[in-house]
Amino acid sequence: MRSLIDILDLSTEELRELIETAEDIIADPEKYAEVCRHKKLATLFFEPSTRTRLSFEAAMYELGGNVLSVSSANSSSAAKGESVADTAKTVSCYADIIAMRHPKEGAAFVAAANASIPVINAGDGGHLHPTQTLADLLTIWREKGRFTDLTIGLCGDLKFGRTVHSLISAMSRYEGNRFVLISPEELKVPSYVKSVLKEKNIPYEQTSDLMEVIGDLDILYMTRVQRERFFNEEDYLRLKDSYILTPDKMRSAREDLSVMHPLPRVNEISVAIDDDPRACYFKQVKNGKYMRMALILKLLYEAGTLKTLPERSRA
Ligand code: NCD
Repeated sequence: MRSLIDILDLSTEELRELIETAEDIIADPEKYAEVCRHKKLATLFFEPSTRTRLSFEAAMYELGGNVLSVSSANSSSAAKGESVADTAKTVSCYADIIAMRHPKEGAAFVAAANASIPVINAGDGGHLHPTQTLADLLTIWREKGRFTDLTIGLCGDLKFGRTVHSLISAMSRYEGNRFVLISPEELKVPSYVKSVLKEKNIPYEQTSDLMEVIGDLDILYMTRVQRERFFNEEDYLRLKDSYILTPDKMRSAREDLSVMHPLPRVNEISVAIDDDPRACYFKQVKNGKYMRMALILKLLYEAGTLKTLPERSRA
């Protein structure tokens, strides 16, 4: 059974196809409006979420399907001590596909190993978040028209920020990209993520100074300091405002910079930047829904749950 746990589960060819499907949905949503009739998506969210859960649910509704939802660990049998494996087996009896968010790294993998329907990782602890990366990729594609030869700055909590880990993996597969990793010492990218850059000889630099590098960037991916993953509140309070992007700082950035953020924003981007044409974070939200629609279609088709897919119009 095909699931999506890590963005690397999808080949670059498949990513291109998902983007084509998303673009086709944007161009002609009517064509897709009934494709998932009588099919059910279960969203199992054992950790807070606004965007990701609603994005999956909106995606399924826009495909004409239905949604079953668990929106907190407290309201489900997880609170009674049920294992992820048993939850996955149970939900497989009700739904056609699962989107799962869980505070433990590896939870979606365990769910996929036990479910008899496709499982989509909607964030597993501080590990990975492949569908945010799908949103990010469509945004980069629409803003830049390419995935190659980009200088990509990632700024903030690069240690616990799962969206950062998945985006680095994804962009490491394309030629000519360079990464600028901007974080306080304590929140640097984990070594398992950096080892991919080293193995593939991908150029990257690490710095704690955003202003020193902002003028070089094609993309600036800001992130929230992940309070819930800190062991003590004092460290969080010390680091939470390490970077705040302001209109003044944006004056040193390029005219064609794309400012991205997976959201939620706490304090990292001044709201005064929202009207700057370089701000792309609300576009990412929209793009996320279309990419999740494309992904649901692909996984349901590969599982044999959908017998046909609409023909994509050739651009
Ligand atoms: C991110 C997440 O949950 O990892 N949010 C999201 O899904 N858009 C980023 C975050 O919580 O900071």
